[in-house]
Amino acid sequence: MSFPVQRPRRLRQDSRLRKMIRQISVEPQQLIYPLFVVEDLEKPREIAAMPGQMHWPVSRIHEPVAAAMKNGVEAFILFGVPSAKNPDGSCAARPDSVVCEAIRNIRQHCSEAYIITDVCLCAYTTHGHCGVLGACGCVDNDSSLALLANMALAHVKAGADMVAPSDMMDGRVGAIRRLLDAEGFSQVPIMAYSAKYASSFYGPFREAAGSAPGKGDRRGYQMDFAVGRDAMTELQLDLEEGADILMVKPGIAYLDILAEARRQFSCPLAVYQVSGEYSMIKAAAEKGWVDERLVALESLIAMRRAGADLILTYFAPQVAQWLKEEKK
Ligand code: PBG
Repeated sequence: MSFPVQRPRRLRQDSRLRKMIRQISVEPQQLIYPLFVVEDLEKPREIAAMPGQMHWPVSRIHEPVAAAMKNGVEAFILFGVPSAKNPDGSCAARPDSVVCEAIRNIRQHCSEAYIITDVCLCAYTTHGHCGVLGACGCVDNDSSLALLANMALAHVKAGADMVAPSDMMDGRVGAIRRLLDAEGFSQVPIMAYSAKYASSFYGPFREAAGSAPGKGDRRGYQMDFAVGRDAMTELQLDLEEGADILMVKPGIAYLDILAEARRQFSCPLAVYQVSGEYSMIKAAAEKGWVDERLVALESLIAMRRAGADLILTYFAPQVAQWLKEEKK
């Protein structure tokens, strides 16, 4: 059967019918809002490369949390920007680290917030790599594992609800799971940045987190975007090591990976709409070239359609606000 019997447009003529047959939506409770907390900062300061996103002092980190929660966003992922770094990034595991202090502050003011922490050494090492450097000057996988696990444990002890390792060392999910279990935290879930690509879309984030590598790049541990076939292996390994939620990152340019992951895995999947994706929409919208709201929502719907259960996005509070307005 074909035209004129088949007319796909019949289903598109009436807005009530379009609403009835819409499959995909995005809801505030599916969003995770990334926040940057900066040690020794006096007042909030806008991140130049990410309009609308702020560096927050520890003492005021509960403010964006409380504001987002009013609109239904309940999950947050914290990135710490410490004042002092050290060669092996072991300062990341201090019980008084900037992230631990932030967790305690949020708990005190917004006890219901779901607090996730990013676990990675790049903002804490003097060289800016995500693991420690070995004798060869390259990132040494196995000696990084205990440091990452200690960092995760410190966050959980401070009250984090979930940890999210983003370093891409092999075996880090297992190392974190074992240490958390041994310390009595077997109920704390791990969201693994599993298929994380060496992407230039992270540019604005590295300014925000002060975490650009001094020498070299991250292609020795993050994945090559010109290869597609190792993504399912990475996801599978993290699942076997004890990850509860698997993440694909970045978002919009990696929806093929996300869709394939959806076909192969039944656990919850997350996708990260990263800093570059956010800043590109912001910049084009500022110039009047695209409609910020429509482009942001379309991107998030596309991620949901590809199979994401959860989306990490800098638009989270804004999207929640837009959705609320639409419902009115
Ligand atoms: C830490 C980390 C990065 C991002 C999340 N965790 C940066 C990187 O890997 O260089 C990027 C997030 C973003 O761009 O919004 N390793």
